[in-house]
Amino acid sequence: MRRSLEIFGGGAPDDIVYGILEKAPPPRERGLMAKLVESIGLGAGDIVLDAGGYSGHHGFELVKRFGCQLVVMDIVEDGLRGGRNQALEMGLQPLPMFVRGDVQAMPLRDSSIDLIWACDMLGCVEPDAFFRECSRVLRTAGRVIVQAVYMTERLEGAERQRFFDGNPSSPGSERELVESAIDAAGLSVVQAEDVGSEEWEHRLQQGEQRIREDLLTLSRLLRHEDEVRSAVGDKWFQHYLARHEWASHFLHGKLGTVLYVLGRR
Ligand SMILES: C[S@@+](CC[C@H](N)C(=O)[O-])C[C@H]1O[C@@H](n2cnc3c(N)ncnc32)[C@H](O)[C@@H]1O
Repeated sequence: MRRSLEIFGGGAPDDIVYGILEKAPPPRERGLMAKLVESIGLGAGDIVLDAGGYSGHHGFELVKRFGCQLVVMDIVEDGLRGGRNQALEMGLQPLPMFVRGDVQAMPLRDSSIDLIWACDMLGCVEPDAFFRECSRVLRTAGRVIVQAVYMTERLEGAERQRFFDGNPSSPGSERELVESAIDAAGLSVVQAEDVGSEEWEHRLQQGEQRIREDLLTLSRLLRHEDEVRSAVGDKWFQHYLARHEWASHFLHGKLGTVLYVLGRR
């Protein structure tokens, strides 16, 4: 009863808590990863690898801004085909190369790449193999820019297991393993930005529809769990759950983003 009286009887320190939040700096926007490229002085003639780039859409922006030669590498042919068509339609110059390949065994020469861009793909690969390959194909003064999504300690027990079951998750979602793989590959961290959930908070603040739709789909998936499970099986149900929990996991502090700029040691 004492707690009820405290909470509902005007004893809650709202002024203090919301005062702190109001004075806190606003969340940083999306696009921080692209801003990091400015700091490395990319130029025309430089070769950029978009590793696990799907269609390579992030890389297209780099071609437009810096005139660099882009190589998009992915294991999924559909994304590469779509990207190639889009680049042709846009008249993108120089025209990117689209390579079907495993970023853990890249079909590229040693010391041939100036920048490796690795966005939202680390959770799909073995970090040791990936960073070893980055180190091999990177030119001496080259850089790797990585957007890593990590599970935090708030993602507990059964939820953590669901995350693994529903995503193509590998040790690439574990911060310690990733940072030791970076080190073991002979790379060093030039810069690290702990972005946490800021970019998602910003997207929510801007009223982005995707977050609202994810929450609605999540709620409906849970209401119709038995029906969906029996129609598509457990494995796919877990995947859809994980897909639509993604944004809210960030907002609950269960997933967080870290951006890295890496160089050779
Ligand atoms: C979540 S998507 C991110 C795509 C893109 N980087 C982006 O930020 O929009 C992960 C991508 O990694 C690719 N991928 C997964 N394992 C890979 C591997 N071993 N080699 C190359 N690409 C891979 C997937 O096919 C997928 O396109």
